[in-house]
Amino acid sequence: MNLEQKSDFSRGWRMSVAPMLDWSDKHCRYLHRLITKHTRLYTEMVTTGALTHGDPRRHLRFDETEHPVALQLGGSDPAELAKCAQLGQDWGYDEINLNCGCPSDRVQRGAFGACLMNEPGLVADGVKAMRDKVDIPVTVKHRIGIDKIESYDFVADFVGRVSEAGCEVFIVHARNAWLQGLSPKENREIPPLRYDLAWQLKRDFPQLTIAVNGGLKTPEQFDEQLQHVDGVMVGREAYYNPWIMQDWDQRYYGGSACALSQDEIELAMVDYMEREAVEDGTPWYAIARHMLGMRHGQRGARRWRQVWSNHKLKPLPAREVWAQARAVLLEDQLKAGDSASA
Ligand SMILES: Cc1cc2nc3c(=O)[nH]c(=O)nc-3n(C[C@H](O)[C@H](O)[C@H](O)COP(=O)(O)O)c2cc1C
Repeated sequence: MNLEQKSDFSRGWRMSVAPMLDWSDKHCRYLHRLITKHTRLYTEMVTTGALTHGDPRRHLRFDETEHPVALQLGGSDPAELAKCAQLGQDWGYDEINLNCGCPSDRVQRGAFGACLMNEPGLVADGVKAMRDKVDIPVTVKHRIGIDKIESYDFVADFVGRVSEAGCEVFIVHARNAWLQGLSPKENREIPPLRYDLAWQLKRDFPQLTIAVNGGLKTPEQFDEQLQHVDGVMVGREAYYNPWIMQDWDQRYYGGSACALSQDEIELAMVDYMEREAVEDGTPWYAIARHMLGMRHGQRGARRWRQVWSNHKLKPLPAREVWAQARAVLLEDQLKAGDSASA
């Protein structure tokens, strides 16, 4: 790859939405894709066990509009990983990402996730086995250390060895995973963030694509990171406040900002709910739960959210719920307009 091809390749990871179990499912990604066309979207982690023993369609089905979309795998057995990577490619995913950052007990018992950072040789074997099977990029998402290991050498050695197996893209959640004593949620909040280690990785491995993740919320923060690394991955902020992504295509890809208004996006989601109900029997509330952050910070948002999450409305068709949500939103906005002009 020459320098120009290399920078085109890296651009693919400039902005991404993180893999989030139970959150970044296909419905959530459909919403995010209505807001931004270029941002890379990640599935929730799917374990190799779930894919080989369960129903692949349930885990892998996605909408054509979701591209570019990456499948995140959880597992450690190279042969199983290779089989699942192949499945992912066959289903049309654009990337296979290996989870080396999840600290949950369940994942540790399965000996994958963050504890794999202790076994760079095994990760390298997994990456190699997957690359032998698929043509799409095989990437790794990891932490900067585990437990009390704070040294840069630990993560540099991990990245060095895994890159020798052919992994060219590393997504660095810039905090340690503490494998004992913290819940997964605490592990996203308590170990301190050290972006400087991710920046150092980019300096020491300039040929690799390095994206940084963890605690990033504002355009100013994203811009600062992009001075040092190739990409930014955003998790919770994108989920709680998806409209922040409305100008990402313009800001980070030289395209145009989202052409749809929030009202149009909400209506497009109602169309999608109706389609999903017919095609797959999905209830509207399994989809609507992902858009509760859409009106973040707006007048009327609270009552609008209450309608879309009201259990009593579950039997109603999506479009009727939409009409009720719209009515309370407009009412609150009108009230605000009246008091402003009074
Ligand atoms: C609800 C939830 C589920 C998550 N599930 C996964 C997962 O399946 N795989 C993974 O690599 N990280 C997972 N993460 C971690 C995120 O990908 C990300 O690394 C973390 O939230 C830090 O980024 P943020 O501060 O932008 O949210 C999850 C995070 C949340 C909030």
